[in-house]
Amino acid sequence: MASYLQLLVLVVVSSFVVMSESASVPVSPGLSYSFYSSNCPKLESIVRNHLKQVFQKDITQAAGLLRLHFHDCFVQGCDGSVLLDGSASGPSEQEAPPNLSLRKEAFKIINDLRGLVHKTCGRVVSCADITALAARDSVVLSGGPNYNIPLGRRDGLNFASRQVTLDNLPAPFSNTTVILKSLAGKRFDATDVVALSGGHTIGRGHCSSFTERLYPKQDGTMDQTFAKNLKVTCPTANTDTTTNLDIRTPNVFDNKYYVDLMNRQGLFTSDQDLYTDSRTKDIVTSFAINQNLFYEKFVNAMLKMGQLGVLTGPQGEIRANCSVRNANKLDLWSVVDQGKQPRFSQF
Ligand code: HEM
Repeated sequence: MASYLQLLVLVVVSSFVVMSESASVPVSPGLSYSFYSSNCPKLESIVRNHLKQVFQKDITQAAGLLRLHFHDCFVQGCDGSVLLDGSASGPSEQEAPPNLSLRKEAFKIINDLRGLVHKTCGRVVSCADITALAARDSVVLSGGPNYNIPLGRRDGLNFASRQVTLDNLPAPFSNTTVILKSLAGKRFDATDVVALSGGHTIGRGHCSSFTERLYPKQDGTMDQTFAKNLKVTCPTANTDTTTNLDIRTPNVFDNKYYVDLMNRQGLFTSDQDLYTDSRTKDIVTSFAINQNLFYEKFVNAMLKMGQLGVLTGPQGEIRANCSVRNANKLDLWSVVDQGKQPRFSQF
């Protein structure tokens, strides 16, 4: 009984910490925490319940959904553009190198969620919002912090080019200087960068994402046993195999990723260098010794990331199928449904 009470107190205290921190991230104009409260009140339970079922069969899908939201938001904002198939206007974002390793299942799960949500509420919820909710629930259902996210994103009408995609998603062989600079361009500070990198506490990576650290010469910062095992998994630089990003608890959203880094067992250069660089080293240590602090900063950074370049109000559309833009540019149905002013009919 005593231990149950202790757990209860811990949960209440930690959710208070998270909620008070999240209040410090401003909500972008047009988004709100109660956006669908009247026209799709069941939205969050539909998403969470479906994902519970998906993850019961395969918890590793959580990582794919979290990464999908990151790749959506960093390129042209959280507008669902990463979900779009290619068209006459060119190859899609999905075909750009950093997106080739996004999980096919993640795209299907988002479209399945859209189907369930639209069946209950009509076409009022965007694919971008569904992706954001799926990422949040992936964190929660993997054992991470629970937090509310503002909603009301609209889906973009266009995808980004290959070059824009490459320019906005840093490579795993980047060092901290490159990562800090790249993310500073999106107004993330060093704490945000270290916290967001904690997304690598779940999921897997392909050999080609880290074998530059093994061949032709082994990265001196890498733990010897860790390196030896990685060489067994990836006998050549391009072996088509994957391995866990967090060797300690690969499917649990905890702070063990930072413990890995302190033990020189981070998989990518972009991970391990956070513990080498003096600007980020102490932040890594602080998260490794204090999981609640990591959760607090992670939620903070996710709320910022989830609001990057969002489309709201009359912008964009609510896609009827997440992988294709609506055929009818005059999106009258959703305009009427959301009670927008007639001037919006031009969209
Ligand atoms: C800071 C710069 C980042 C770099 C350079 C980076 C790079 C990568 C790479 C190379 C992979 C593995 C791809 C593969 O080989 O299959 C990966 C996987 C992953 N990344 Fe990142 N990432 C970054 C930031 C983030 C952020 C901000 C998040 C989310 C908050 C995130 C979440 C994930 C997850 C969950 C996976 C595993 C995906 C799966 O198992 O399907 N990453 N990342």
